[in-house]
Amino acid sequence: MIELVNISKSYRVGSAYVEALRNVDLNVHKGEIFGIIGHSGAGKSTLLRCVNLLERPSDGQVKVGGVELTSLSSGQLQGQRRRIGMIFQHFNLLSMATVRDNVAFPLKLTKLSKAERNARVVELLQLVGLADHADKYPAQLSGGQKQRVGIARALASNPDVLLCDEATSALDPQTTNSILALLLDINRKLGLTILLITHEMHVIRSICDRVAVIDRGEIVETGNVLDVFLKPQHPITQDFVEQVADSFDARELLGQREGRLFRVNYVGDTTYEPILYNTVRSSPVQFAILQGTVSRMKQTPYGQLIIELIGDGPDIAQVVADLRQEGLDVEELR
Ligand SMILES: Nc1ncnc2c1ncn2[C@@H]1O[C@H](COP(=O)(O)OP(=O)(O)OP(=O)(O)O)[C@@H](O)[C@H]1O
Ligand SMILES: [Mg+2]
Repeated sequence: MIELVNISKSYRVGSAYVEALRNVDLNVHKGEIFGIIGHSGAGKSTLLRCVNLLERPSDGQVKVGGVELTSLSSGQLQGQRRRIGMIFQHFNLLSMATVRDNVAFPLKLTKLSKAERNARVVELLQLVGLADHADKYPAQLSGGQKQRVGIARALASNPDVLLCDEATSALDPQTTNSILALLLDINRKLGLTILLITHEMHVIRSICDRVAVIDRGEIVETGNVLDVFLKPQHPITQDFVEQVADSFDARELLGQREGRLFRVNYVGDTTYEPILYNTVRSSPVQFAILQGTVSRMKQTPYGQLIIELIGDGPDIAQVVADLRQEGLDVEELR
């Protein structure tokens, strides 16, 4: 649905150039929620703004729904942009206009009659849960409600793609979750493709299907959220995963413990099964749990434990083989 091919972008600052993006390739499938995570200054906003050409890449191609955007005339580009909605961290609402008028604004450029426009606004406000707030002004709304207006406005022209630039970064955790739930809901109901950027792993874990990690203008890791969470490869990715793991690096315990340390990953239904206990029960091996997370990624339960196994080599090897047989992913820490 969105294809970026070898995108580079440099900004001119005085006589120098800042390279904000370097040779970025990205492929976002129709109907998925794709997250891009990176630290401040990594190039996230630049990348997102290249998708609707709010920022023109210095090099490379941008394709949305099969249409290459960089070679279009400005009239053609305007038409294509209607298929790409966008929401912002600070909402960017018109402060002098009511909620209704904010949402109706993009419809002014269409051929809809006034009655059709009004009907569409009502429908959109219902979708985002603001039907009772149509006549209020942005200053009378909470942050979460403002973002709902932003979402309704972005959806007004029935886009195929929604771009979200740190859409929940100005919100408290509870409101963040309600906006994420709304994004997931419209993704499902409308089949909308969502590309979002964030610096919070929580956002990625809650609603994204796939994720790319960006560092200093380059994508350093891409994958299914589940894989990236359970086996982050790049140091930057590992930092982000630690944000939500709420834990220390278990490797610190190596050499301090009598037994051997293993990382055990569970995904899906096995997460809630007593597999560890049942496996060890019939063996002379003892175990201790040194660290553990059990949570959910979108709808999929998962768990990650660091366990210590105490016993003889062959007995431990048998336990590890049995756990693997039960479908768990087991890896020794060294
Ligand atoms: N208009 C501009 N002119 C010059 N340099 C810019 C411009 N916009 C961004 N940059 C530079 O490009 C780099 C990437 O910026 P960008 O805003 O894309 O990062 P970001 O990942 O969105 O950061 P944040 O999380 O703080 O929003 C930074 O070094 C930034 O200073
Ligand atoms: Mg940014």
